Amino acid sequence: MASTLRFNGRVVLVTGAGGGLGRAYALAFAERGASVVVNDLGGDFTGVGKGSLAADKVVEEIRRKGGKAVANYDSVEEGEKIVKTALDAFGRIDIVINNAGILRDRSFSRISDEDWDIIQRVHLRGSFLVTRAAWDHMKKQNFGRIIMTSSASGIYGNFGQANYCAAKLGLLGLSNCLAVEGKKNNIHCNTIAPTAGSRMTQTILPEDLLEALKPDYVAPLVLWLCHESCEENGGLFEVGAGWIGKLRWERSLGALVRQRTQPMTPEAVKANWTKICDFDNATKPQSIKESIGSIVEALNKINSGGEVSANPTSRATSAATSEFAGAIGHKLPPFYSSYAELDTIMYALGVGASIKEPKDMKFIYEGSSDFSCLPTFGVILAQKSIMNGGLAEIPGLSINLAKILHGEQYLELYKPMPRTGKFRCETIVADILDKGSGLVILMDVYTYSGEELICYNQFSIFVVGSGGFSGKRTSDKAKVAVAIPDRPPDAVLTDTTSLNQAALYRLSGDWNPLHIDPNFASLAGFDKPILHGLCTFGFSARHVLQQFADNDVSRFKAIKVRFAKPVYPGQTLQTEMWKEGNRIHFQTKVQGTGDIVISNAYVDLVPASAISAKTPSEGAGLQSTLVFEEIGRRLQGIGQEVVKKVGAVFEWHITKGENTAAKWTIDLKTGSGRVYQGPAKGSADVTITLSDEDFMEVVLGKLDPQKAFFSGRLKARGNILLSQKLQMILKDYAKL
Ligand code: NAI
Repeated sequence: MASTLRFNGRVVLVTGAGGGLGRAYALAFAERGASVVVNDLGGDFTGVGKGSLAADKVVEEIRRKGGKAVANYDSVEEGEKIVKTALDAFGRIDIVINNAGILRDRSFSRISDEDWDIIQRVHLRGSFLVTRAAWDHMKKQNFGRIIMTSSASGIYGNFGQANYCAAKLGLLGLSNCLAVEGKKNNIHCNTIAPTAGSRMTQTILPEDLLEALKPDYVAPLVLWLCHESCEENGGLFEVGAGWIGKLRWERSLGALVRQRTQPMTPEAVKANWTKICDFDNATKPQSIKESIGSIVEALNKINSGGEVSANPTSRATSAATSEFAGAIGHKLPPFYSSYAELDTIMYALGVGASIKEPKDMKFIYEGSSDFSCLPTFGVILAQKSIMNGGLAEIPGLSINLAKILHGEQYLELYKPMPRTGKFRCETIVADILDKGSGLVILMDVYTYSGEELICYNQFSIFVVGSGGFSGKRTSDKAKVAVAIPDRPPDAVLTDTTSLNQAALYRLSGDWNPLHIDPNFASLAGFDKPILHGLCTFGFSARHVLQQFADNDVSRFKAIKVRFAKPVYPGQTLQTEMWKEGNRIHFQTKVQGTGDIVISNAYVDLVPASAISAKTPSEGAGLQSTLVFEEIGRRLQGIGQEVVKKVGAVFEWHITKGENTAAKWTIDLKTGSGRVYQGPAKGSADVTITLSDEDFMEVVLGKLDPQKAFFSGRLKARGNILLSQKLQMILKDYAKL
């Protein structure tokens, strides 16, 4: 059973507690152990007169029941004095219920200055003064609960109550602000809009309803909101008759009605009116940050050009999401392709890997012992699968290819990209979204090697001008971009793209003339050909891999980016990175202009510990392991002699499938030689890479190492001539 909510030791101040709702609160708090200050001016319901009777009666009632209470007869306009009563009587103040109120109902034109002012003074200014007097005490003790009393009249408007409506909704604004300011000191402020029978409502509500709507049916909400265990802060509740509901703000998706190069016009507002006021798929902003975020987003969209729906004729006319039912879930025909080392090297050069950086050699030289395919190469096959023509053939969706933009990209790898292979891509239309100024197609692409899933891509393709069909704005299928942390970056890497960068990158398969042909680029509205977004994506991912994973491709798990602005070949890219656990947030800027070209991006890394945990099992299940161990044993007797003959250190990379499965070192240079697992402890004279199977063929004399080298089955780096001595070592000394 839930435990009883108690207020022992808490001091509660209820304003206007001489009757109606305030009295019910005072009695309920006292009954549950609180010490209560019963404040009431004792005038009539229009604010005329004063007296001590009302407050005294309630204090007496509380005391009669064994509770603790003191009276205060000041007006709420004397906030300091009322709080002083609490401090003098009980030594502290924990909870303030701003409840006192009066009415001066008049139709708007008949409201006098006095009618206006007194309502503001009692409700709004009174709540401000009482709360301010208690605030610092609450801050010091790191606890406070405050209630503001608003009204349905303020929330919705009510004839004849302009003064009251204004004050009552002013209280909500006050409460919203105190909720924000008090949060860090455990001061919570909430607002209620009650309905109850009282002297205030007796002229409005019919008699039987007046009886039925007891203040006791409101008080329990107030008590809960003021309990120390209640986390609610900044809420607004309607309450009455035992029913409680919470209110929040809802905001339509709205419409952008301005274009960068043109003035904003009332006609554009009119043209978009239905959309501006359309609450389908509305959002529920909860903070000013979220509110401003949308405005900034709008500004960015306008500044980056294009994404506006000012012209209603450019919108697909009233096509509801249901019309895309045939498109969503549509599968493109499977796409088959293959790649070789040449392709991965060309890609690596296309995204800026360079011989200038020794650690990049593994991406651009197939003879490198740890030759690897860059993880972001995973988008290339998937993109080819989409560009293969299927996009134009999605049922129920006619896409003008000239109007598409690559909005966002997500890539997840389930294993490192193999160095070569044959693949199958399966592509499905995951969802279609309405972003107002455009339509977004989420395309999911799964890339398989045989039956094994290698990687997954999600392309967000933005079709400019096709939005506004009253479709949904978000999807649970979407891989969402994540904002970067609010602090300076942990690392920044830069790379200058070459003037030929796009010309080189396109060789990886994106032949769009926008990236090479000046005439085409100018037709599309650019001064000159632009770099591929996925090229910048490759640069940035490489920076993250270099900075946080020491170029270890097996640590790359996933990447998400949003393409924000174009880059021109020759510009310098600057990747700003933030490490948060295994997630590296990043954004990419153009140095010089400061333009953010990739925003809200991240790379997820496999923890280094998860990789090294695999190492102990390295070499298990390989035939070559037995041979190396045997060579080690045999060397023990004849080591010195062999060292004299050979005089070199051999490092071995034994592959299984596409991956390096084990590394061994045969040191025939020092002492009496030794064999051990792992890379050479000093430097190796030659590093040899070959498969476990081929290694066995060589050992068994079935494969000549030199022939294997020339046919590409065996790769050697360093002093290749030393491979001539392999025969001697393996054949003569392994002797299996
Ligand atoms: P009520 O008239 O029974 O209680 C208000 C109390 O405030 C009275 O005892 C009055 O003497 C006291 N008061 C008035 N001016 C004061 C001042 N300057 N300083 C100290 N005390 C003062 O009315 P009720 O219905 O209990 O209302 C309580 C609060 O709830 C008010 O703020 C009212 O606007 C609000 N409210 C009530 C609704 C209802 O259905 N009863 C509907 C919406 C809001």
